[in-house]
Amino acid sequence: METIFSGIQPSGTLTFGNYLGAMKQFVELQEDYECYFCIVDEHAITVPQDRLKLRENIRSLAALYLASGINPDKATLFIQSEVPAHTQLGWIMQTQSYIGELERMTQFKDKSAGKEGVPSALLTYPPLMAADILLYNTNHVPVGNDQKQHLELTRDLAERFNRKYNDIFTVPEVKISEVGARIMSLQEPTKKMSKSDANQKATIYMLDEPKKIIKKIKSAMTDSEGIVRFDPVEKPGISNLLTILSSVTNTPIKDLEKQYENIGYGQFKQDVADAVVTVLEPIQQRYYELIDSDTLDEVLDQGRDTANRVANKTLAKAKKAMGLGRVVKRK
Ligand code: TYM
Repeated sequence: METIFSGIQPSGTLTFGNYLGAMKQFVELQEDYECYFCIVDEHAITVPQDRLKLRENIRSLAALYLASGINPDKATLFIQSEVPAHTQLGWIMQTQSYIGELERMTQFKDKSAGKEGVPSALLTYPPLMAADILLYNTNHVPVGNDQKQHLELTRDLAERFNRKYNDIFTVPEVKISEVGARIMSLQEPTKKMSKSDANQKATIYMLDEPKKIIKKIKSAMTDSEGIVRFDPVEKPGISNLLTILSSVTNTPIKDLEKQYENIGYGQFKQDVADAVVTVLEPIQQRYYELIDSDTLDEVLDQGRDTANRVANKTLAKAKKAMGLGRVVKRK
């Protein structure tokens, strides 16, 4: 069976973009692959975090994974910092990375531009991400569009390591869904929907109350043409809503365009809002049942143990290939 690995940062409440670009795919993929899903808290600390808030976000993300449909009997769910092999292999991958290629990462450029005192971990974030993936002999990595460049670097690092040392790592493929890989801001639809948008109306959070979701979608930025058609350049707002509706209802955009041929934006937005609420309401219900439960801890304990077992094996191979540790002379 082929292996899937992916991760989400516990750096704030998840957005509907995270859900459509990542989580929704995860739930579908666990049926056919051996899956590892990670709460990447060590990635989150590449920017300053409030200690108590981070802890809360980690637990909240674990509950959201399960509430969204991740089944712990099928997939391994764990916290990155509970599996030390990640930072250990992360260091090894840093020895294989060039400063120039890390500086070229658009996410590094965006997060560091114009700032003073940029943490070096922001630059070395991609080698850690490569380590996350490579530890599990991963074949496919389901992510949203914004992670594509990091995945290309992961492949380069794996190939570079394999060439220099031994064929230790499986070279992973990126897996990006056809619709939903780049959900845009509701207020500035030429920009990605993001956890950290200062404008609350721009982002649907997975734990937003239904009323709030409806209000946000109804006030989404559109255009004055009055025709529901997909054209991301001329009509980014309507195209984004079409993408959302297509993704949640699993209906091709072409069919939706036909369905809404003579229907105004008001009704269209109402339908998008209803469809989003239909998906999120049951997830929210399960979330509140899980957040303080023992089940959550049991799942994370078990995930930690499984992940450590698999990751330590790969780490040991990589260390040996590079000559780390000692020759054992004892008979
Ligand atoms: P993160 O936490 O920013 O996002 C988690 C996942 O959500 C996707 N995503 C989106 N998809 C569609 N539309 C959007 N507006 C949108 N915003 C976010 C992201 O592409 C991602 O798939 N570096 C990663 C975390 C990570 C990781 C890994 C991922 C660390 N190690 C190993 C895969 C494999 C990140 O910051 O994702």
